[in-house]
Amino acid sequence: MMRRPVLLALLLLLALAVRGAAADDDDDDDPPAVGTRLVLKVPKAAARPYVPRTNPMTKEKAALGKKLFFEKALSLDRTIACASCHDPRKGYADGRDRAKGINGQIGVRSTPTILNIGFVQPLFWDGRVGMLEEQAKGPITNPGEMGLPDMETAVARVKEDQSYEPLFVAAYGDRGVTVERITGSIATFERSLTAVDSPFDRWQEGDEAAASDAVKRGFKLFRGKARCSRCHSYDQTTPFFTDESFHNEGIAVVRSGLNALLRETEALKKKDVNVIATLAGKERFSELGRFLVTGNRQDLGAWKTPSLSNVANTAPYMHDGSLKTLRDVVDFYDRGGNANAFLDGTLRPLRLTDAEKDDLVALLEAFSQKRSENFDQKELEALAEKALGPLGRRWF
Ligand code: HEC
Ligand code: HEC
Repeated sequence: MMRRPVLLALLLLLALAVRGAAADDDDDDDPPAVGTRLVLKVPKAAARPYVPRTNPMTKEKAALGKKLFFEKALSLDRTIACASCHDPRKGYADGRDRAKGINGQIGVRSTPTILNIGFVQPLFWDGRVGMLEEQAKGPITNPGEMGLPDMETAVARVKEDQSYEPLFVAAYGDRGVTVERITGSIATFERSLTAVDSPFDRWQEGDEAAASDAVKRGFKLFRGKARCSRCHSYDQTTPFFTDESFHNEGIAVVRSGLNALLRETEALKKKDVNVIATLAGKERFSELGRFLVTGNRQDLGAWKTPSLSNVANTAPYMHDGSLKTLRDVVDFYDRGGNANAFLDGTLRPLRLTDAEKDDLVALLEAFSQKRSENFDQKELEALAEKALGPLGRRWF
């Protein structure tokens, strides 16, 4: 059964987004006014990325978006770029449990990878934003992340730098810098970060040698006894391991006292009809997750099912980075999640043997690859090195 806000959100998405062109199946799309169409390297059967009609993908926009993604001048003190937290050398995440913004501020949530993000809707752990174009404004003006006072300041910062001129001309036909062009080109770059050539993907494409026996047993568990695919949906047409839906697993019970928070919120909800507005922006209540977007009881403590593409490269795990390794994640599911009043009914103790846990970890590792398909990974790593400094140790 579909809840009303979800249905509304879906209708909105349908209105805003069309699944854009993958492979050569693109006759129904308008050609871009300027530039060369960017065709993603994904298997023909794979789902199409969500691309709004108003922002068709071109190579020139992706090139401009790439430079902006590594641009530290988009933060107040010019120290933080998108790539500071979504670092190509760290699987497009940051390796931290919670993100670190300007002035060393530590946020409340863990940084997700943005590999294959063009195929996943809605965005953020709580799904509060639909399109990447809209999302890109968030971190730039978030006081704890990049901290610019407004998007007009972002436009002014980009205008200061002459080296952007030819890139704007190539992408948009003239050198005008606007909010829409900044976010549109960053979104295009993000959509180009596909990764669909993991050992698991190659096995699914028919290469029997690409997967070990452990991986093959792990996949059987994933779809069977371990119940993973009930939420991390998978088939060859939607190979991104998410139902694009929200579930309470009780992660925050341990570190953030979720149960007390739930009782407090329930009591408040009885007295205060406008409970979301009251709680919004109060850091302590961030753990309520999807509830802060919909106000529905069943969304209390629920989070988006994340994609598992590249998951071996993006520890630590979960929205608060509280689980350190993939083995910890598997142990967590084996326990049946963390008990609380809103725990998703799908979770239950799994009684996995040690060998079965090893097989699941082998599978999760096989979901991962070390590079993106549409850009040269070495080039992106070199850009990160230049913009952010050396890593200290090699990531891979
Ligand atoms: C200070 C670290 C930081 C910076 C800088 C940052 N992000 Fe993020 N990003 C995060 C965190 C943390 C989240 C998850 C927040 C949430 O869900 O509430 C996130 C979420 C996202 C998502 C949604 C991913 C998903 O799975 O739903 C996208 C897309 C994204 N960021 C793109 C960007 C872009 C583009 C920029 C630059 C304009 C940027 N980020 C800058 C930390 C950062
Ligand atoms: C009830 C739906 C559901 C089931 C069943 C489920 N997951 Fe998840 N999974 C989620 C949600 C929701 C999250 C995010 C939870 C959070 O951050 O609090 C998640 C997070 C994860 C993560 C962390 C990803 C990251 O980037 O941090 C991994 C790994 C994972 N799940 C693997 C599995 C495996 C393996 C199984 C089967 C043993 C499984 N999941 C079963 C919904 C589910």
